Amino acid sequence: MSKYKRTLVTTALPYANGPVHIGHLAGVYIPADIYVRYLRLKGKEVAFIGGSDEHGVPITIKAKKEGITPQDVVDRYHNIIKKSFSELGISFDIYSRTSSDTHAEMASDFFKHLYKEGKFIEQTSMQYYDEEAKQFLADRYITGTCPHCNNENAYGDQCEACGTSLNATDLINPVSAITGNKPIQKETKHWFLPLNEYETWLKEWILDSHKEWKPNVYGQCKSWIDGGLHPRAVTRDLDWGVPVPVEGADGKVLYVWFDAPIGYISATKDLTPDWEKWWKDQETKLVHFIGKDNIVFHCIIFPSMLKAEGSYILPENVPANEFLNLEGDKISTSRNWAVWLHEYLVDFPDKQDVLRYVLTANAPETKDNDFTWKDFQARNNNELVAIYGNFINRTLVLTHKYYKGIVPERGELSDFDKEILSEIPKIKASLERNIENYHFREALKDAMNLARLGNKYLADTEPWKLIKTDEERVKTIMNICIQIATNLSIITEPFIPFSAQKLRDMLNIEKLEWEEMGDNLIKAGHCINKASLLFEKIEDKEIENQVNKLLETKKANSLANIEAEPAKENCNFDDFSKMDIRVGTILEAEKVKKTKKLLKLTVDTGIDKRTIVSGIAEFFKPEDIIGKKVSVLVNLAPKSLKGIESQGMILMAENLDGSLSFVSPEDKEILTGSTIC
Ligand code: 2FM
Ligand code: ZN
Repeated sequence: MSKYKRTLVTTALPYANGPVHIGHLAGVYIPADIYVRYLRLKGKEVAFIGGSDEHGVPITIKAKKEGITPQDVVDRYHNIIKKSFSELGISFDIYSRTSSDTHAEMASDFFKHLYKEGKFIEQTSMQYYDEEAKQFLADRYITGTCPHCNNENAYGDQCEACGTSLNATDLINPVSAITGNKPIQKETKHWFLPLNEYETWLKEWILDSHKEWKPNVYGQCKSWIDGGLHPRAVTRDLDWGVPVPVEGADGKVLYVWFDAPIGYISATKDLTPDWEKWWKDQETKLVHFIGKDNIVFHCIIFPSMLKAEGSYILPENVPANEFLNLEGDKISTSRNWAVWLHEYLVDFPDKQDVLRYVLTANAPETKDNDFTWKDFQARNNNELVAIYGNFINRTLVLTHKYYKGIVPERGELSDFDKEILSEIPKIKASLERNIENYHFREALKDAMNLARLGNKYLADTEPWKLIKTDEERVKTIMNICIQIATNLSIITEPFIPFSAQKLRDMLNIEKLEWEEMGDNLIKAGHCINKASLLFEKIEDKEIENQVNKLLETKKANSLANIEAEPAKENCNFDDFSKMDIRVGTILEAEKVKKTKKLLKLTVDTGIDKRTIVSGIAEFFKPEDIIGKKVSVLVNLAPKSLKGIESQGMILMAENLDGSLSFVSPEDKEILTGSTIC
């Protein structure tokens, strides 16, 4: 008997500065939803908490870039995220947000309580300050040269070129990202949670008492604790977040990682006035679903905060997953290397369960895993369609064909029938064990094993042959198939709830409870509805479209890299102003004979009409470029090409694939002869 009466399930609050992608889903939200749906089916008392994490520096940077407020940014993404979760069937009891009033009050009270109890230490330190913007600079707001690789665009916390973690003071030539000025160092005061004081307790609580946590989670905790813990600042100099509620803290807010996990508590308060029952009663089991990058915050820092406060329960488990890659590359929001949930829902309408299924079957539970569109297609076509869908379809179609959809009476069971039916409780028990130990991949295999069992039963009994010789026996077989299908409608519900509902509609039954699984769920005489396909094959074309979308992203990213290539050596203004570049108009164009690449152009430069030979014939037909306005370097020394004197050069932009585009004035009509300077 479990010592718990109820379960509180939280999922990492995604930052509201972008939509969610398949990595988030496989790592956190789908496993949590499976767990919660399973508990609900078992009739357990459960609260499922989600919400958006709406504070932190990246949100302020995005707002600045777009010229909007941080609140505008989070409003936009909170709504996109909330809607897409709901459409995927992530069945939160509440999806809240950390810019809410409830949250500001809850986080502020939490801080005040620890402050009054003397749980923080105050420390002053020197930090970079932008005198023009009149603000301290968060690490992300400072750029400079990396002392390790000389990358000139390293951030104050990390150099993305060489991957080294940095302190802002390590940067050579630091510059404020807000004004471009050189920042000064100025003294500032912050509040720190002395994690070192919790070290002994954490050792006992995690290393001695939670040896059952997943090895990746336990291992990370152990290495943090063994490495020695230090005081962590829980406040920041920033104007976006929950204000630090003590005197002398103007312009300071709670650090996002201090307020975000308190967001779980404020969301619960928004859900029910009875929120303390969920957070302060030892009979509540608290489980945090997160990705591996959040382990330290949920296993060490947040528990230390809760322990310091004193009246809260601690997580019973933190089943963090590893990362999901996409087609062999790390998922990256900034490089747009992701499958975005809101786009998937548009591209694959009514296929929520396919994504849920594939991301569970391939979840990065013990190591990083790879999502590929080919695997997505194969799992749909070879598993959902060929195994599960096939069994359901044959069962329903045959029941209609032989009995007009009325479940037949069964006769005496054969040994084989009994053996098959005896598998149901075994599969159920295995699945329960797996889900309760957070092994969702294995649990899904159990569910599919029931569909496999159904297929095996049909293949071995062959009712379509027997119907000619032994009608009574076929009645028993079809009755058993209907029972297996009904069990499938229960056992698959946590994983693929949309299809489970569709199956219940076809079977013409209400939702059943978990413990009802077993033999003889549907009585003879019950009338089922017409069969329709539970899953459809996904064609190559649809997969190609998705792969092409990713290829486009790859191409765009490579172009971005090319643009980011180091600039040539500096030239001075005099060097530059020696070049006379004008807007010219192409008047005539013809191919230069016996060449592949050259066009002979007559160009009006505004000064004169002159001949220019240009190597653009592979990309432009002469007749298509007559009248085109182009940029011409008019004082390039003349040069003879294939016997023709070329008097200048047409400026071209070279694309990644080597193709060329004219550099042409675009925004308004410009006269031929205008100078380009
Ligand atoms: O890593 C992240 O996306 C964070 N926004 C997760 C926060 S989890 C919790 F603490 F709110
Ligand atoms: Zn570097």
